[in-house]
Amino acid sequence: MTKLDIESIAIIGAGPGGLASLYEFLHTNQDGTSTVGEHQSTNPKFKKIVAFEQKDKAGGIWSAQPTFEPDLAIPPQDLLDTEKYNDPSVIHPLPKIPTGLEHATFEKPVEVKEDKLSNELEWKASGIFPDLFTNIPSRFTRFSYLDNEPEYLDEKRIIYPFLHHQEQTGRLEKFIKNEKLYDHIRVNSTVEQATKTSDGKWLLTVRQKDTTNHKEHWYTEKFDAIVISNGHYTVPNIPHIDGLAQFNKNFPGVLNHTKNYRNQDEYKDKKVLIVGGSISTVNILQYVVPVAKQVINSKRGPHYVFEWINDGLVSKGIEPKGTIKKIDPVSGEFFFEDGSSEQGFDKIILTTGYHYHYPFLNHEDGGVKVINPSNLSRVGGLYYDTFSVEDPTLATVGVAVSPLNFHTIEASAAAVAGVWSGKKTLPTKQEQLQWEQVQIKKTADNLFFHYYTHKKKDEPHLVEIELGVNNLEKLYYGLKDGTLPKSKTVLQS
Ligand SMILES: Cc1cc2nc3c(=O)[nH]c(=O)nc-3n(C[C@H](O)[C@H](O)[C@H](O)COP(=O)(O)OP(=O)(O)OC[C@H]3O[C@@H](n4cnc5c(N)ncnc54)[C@H](O)[C@@H]3O)c2cc1C
Ligand SMILES: NC(=O)c1ccc[n+]([C@@H]2O[C@H](COP(=O)([O-])OP(=O)(O)OC[C@H]3O[C@@H](n4cnc5c(N)ncnc54)[C@H](OP(=O)(O)O)[C@@H]3O)[C@@H](O)[C@H]2O)c1
Repeated sequence: MTKLDIESIAIIGAGPGGLASLYEFLHTNQDGTSTVGEHQSTNPKFKKIVAFEQKDKAGGIWSAQPTFEPDLAIPPQDLLDTEKYNDPSVIHPLPKIPTGLEHATFEKPVEVKEDKLSNELEWKASGIFPDLFTNIPSRFTRFSYLDNEPEYLDEKRIIYPFLHHQEQTGRLEKFIKNEKLYDHIRVNSTVEQATKTSDGKWLLTVRQKDTTNHKEHWYTEKFDAIVISNGHYTVPNIPHIDGLAQFNKNFPGVLNHTKNYRNQDEYKDKKVLIVGGSISTVNILQYVVPVAKQVINSKRGPHYVFEWINDGLVSKGIEPKGTIKKIDPVSGEFFFEDGSSEQGFDKIILTTGYHYHYPFLNHEDGGVKVINPSNLSRVGGLYYDTFSVEDPTLATVGVAVSPLNFHTIEASAAAVAGVWSGKKTLPTKQEQLQWEQVQIKKTADNLFFHYYTHKKKDEPHLVEIELGVNNLEKLYYGLKDGTLPKSKTVLQS
């Protein structure tokens, strides 16, 4: 394949994926060699790098503090009434793009009145809540060029080997500050469109929010290449359930998606239904079970990665049910596939995952497409979860799923820097397409396509992940069954 010659790069999203990409690009020399782990390049290959971040600060999921402001609990009723609320483009639509952007620039944007609904439907709040600690050992929730801080390796810490979310956030904040990454980040800036123009450049349409003045500033800007690092735990997956939209109308305030969970007090003495059977499910159950009046869990299949979750969901304090078949929206009765039914729920939490979603991208520009949108979708058209097969000037960082996700992010970002600097080349398009087909056969045409396991016998330090899994299970039972006070698992100020 011909070598690429990229000079300007836009990064969409400044979470860990965007930050790792920015760091790699700033450390890439003109000749494609790298200064990673040392100073930024003094003879850089990439002349202009801009990271666009829709929130008011960088850090992605880990930028939740200090307010923990939640998103809407559930999409607005008119969107539920479409009965297509399981389609991410319905609940996360493109805003109306104002006219007159042809000559609008970052310096001279077009100003329009704030569109409050567009802001709400960005779903940009983080799913992190005040009591949360990480679920992957601290060694692995950092990039390899950052410190493995000795204070976090103390086995006497109750949450060892994990971090309080404030510690994880602090780690990223220190990285951003030390590397002066904000010099290249534009906050409050949502990329609403990315299209390929006839001159081979990417034209980005950006909405910059000025919430204090209730204004929006729109402009366009061209780049040679774009990295999509918008995360995939932002847009809630609300599964389609017969009767759910009408139930929400008749019983307002009951339904909630997991990313809005903030505090166990809301569930005190309540009858609660928790839908789902994965990590968020047990994570929330451990706080809700000790305070609620009654807790029912409705789940679909088993958890294939962390088997302890399957036992954890049928343990003390939880009444297990099958999938929800339908809801009677008048009586509020829920009918389950196992033939049973229940009603009178005060609170329902959908721990049903999230969508991959790229509303700003046309499938024609880059060939990247989400297949079967749900919590189990696959992103089609990517080589090693990273390069668009159709157009190598489009890359994604953060699509892979793994307990080692900081490292899959780092690997993708390094690969992109290598190829875009011209130091490395990609195989032919045909070979990349073939890789995708082989991978589908080896894994599946769904989320498991993107899954990378940590279970490699020849990597001794990966046993730490298993140690983490065991400790996570112990913490779960301790918190849920009341033998470990929650106060011992939160950061003491
Ligand atoms: C509740 C919860 C707990 C988690 N706990 C762990 C854990 O313990 N350990 C672990 O390793 N991982 C954990 N994760 C996974 C977590 O997502 C990753 O750690 C990491 O944040 C992924 O980084 P990212 O950059 O890919 O995505 P994100 O962190 O989601 O960052 C994406 C960024 O892109 C921005 N963005 C999106 N669209 C646009 C746009 N159009 N324009 C501009 N900006 C945009 C978003 O605002 C966001 O800041 C957790 C996830 C959740 C939801
Ligand atoms: N640090 C922490 O402690 C922490 C806490 C929470 C989350 N996280 C992270 O956040 C990420 C997302 O995890 P997640 O648990 O929110 O999402 P997830 O892993 O995608 O799980 C979604 C769950 O919802 C279920 N589901 C989907 N549709 C359903 C339906 N119609 N009926 C019943 N069940 C349905 C799925 O079942 P199927 O399996 O059958 O599809 C699955 O069990 C993970 O990376 C996780 O590690 C971390």
